Amino acid sequence: MKVSSNATPQTAAARLKKVSKLRPRLAIVLGSGFHHALTELRVAKKISYAKIPGFPKPTVSGHAGELYFGHLGQTPVLVLSGRAHFYEGHEMERVTFATRTLAAFGITDLLLTNAAGGINKKFHAGDFMVLTDHINFMGANPLRGTLQKGLPRFVDLTETYDKKLRELLFRAGKISKLKLQRGVYLAVSGPSYETPAEIRAFAKLGADAVGMSTVPEAIAARQCGLNVAAISCVTNLAAGISQGNLSHTEVLETAERVKKSGAALIKNFAELYRTIIN
Ligand code: HPA
Repeated sequence: MKVSSNATPQTAAARLKKVSKLRPRLAIVLGSGFHHALTELRVAKKISYAKIPGFPKPTVSGHAGELYFGHLGQTPVLVLSGRAHFYEGHEMERVTFATRTLAAFGITDLLLTNAAGGINKKFHAGDFMVLTDHINFMGANPLRGTLQKGLPRFVDLTETYDKKLRELLFRAGKISKLKLQRGVYLAVSGPSYETPAEIRAFAKLGADAVGMSTVPEAIAARQCGLNVAAISCVTNLAAGISQGNLSHTEVLETAERVKKSGAALIKNFAELYRTIIN
């Protein structure tokens, strides 16, 4: 599992263990629409991705590239602000490196967050959707290639998104006074947005939302035995569902509009999480 020179998830995890004595079991990856959660975090320590061997430097504006140790409410957490995307040109190995590092560190539960385009006609821009399942349309599988010792080759994805964690998200939604949508996330490689014909096809395939992340991390996490939950901020209606054209500006504007809701949801999820671990 080599990414750069001699960096492995194990060496990266060893580096993280030197940053803080805190040993959270829950990690949260912040995507667009969720970065405001950092304002709820009582930060113990932080480290820039540039200082973690093998971690990629995110290139999309607004994605910070910082890993935080801290508490959300009373719950110890690792929070990753920013991620490597496949569309940036990274190999899948690099895209999933942080996830594998979290597993090597001792994380057992992972919450992935992202921005997505709404395909389901009942969705509105600004909604949040709990992932019940996904369709990998990226054209690549993150588990392809050399197999790391001790990990399964053929990974069961029957229940990629953990039922208990999903229920916690819905409970967190209630506490945050948000009606959460649920549905299937379809991942494309990007970075172009989809055509209306593609969105019509994806709707027929059973997709409720479309995005450019999360799925590689969820698959790698399942290979490592982590429990996974994921939530999308529906920042726009997908191509052809919306009236006008799509733009990254619209994505950022919606993310900004609902940032407080996204932050509350994550904080309440983390608080509830403490009640289910022993
Ligand atoms: N398509 C793909 N990815 C996205 C979208 C979209 O419409 N919105 C936010 N991320």
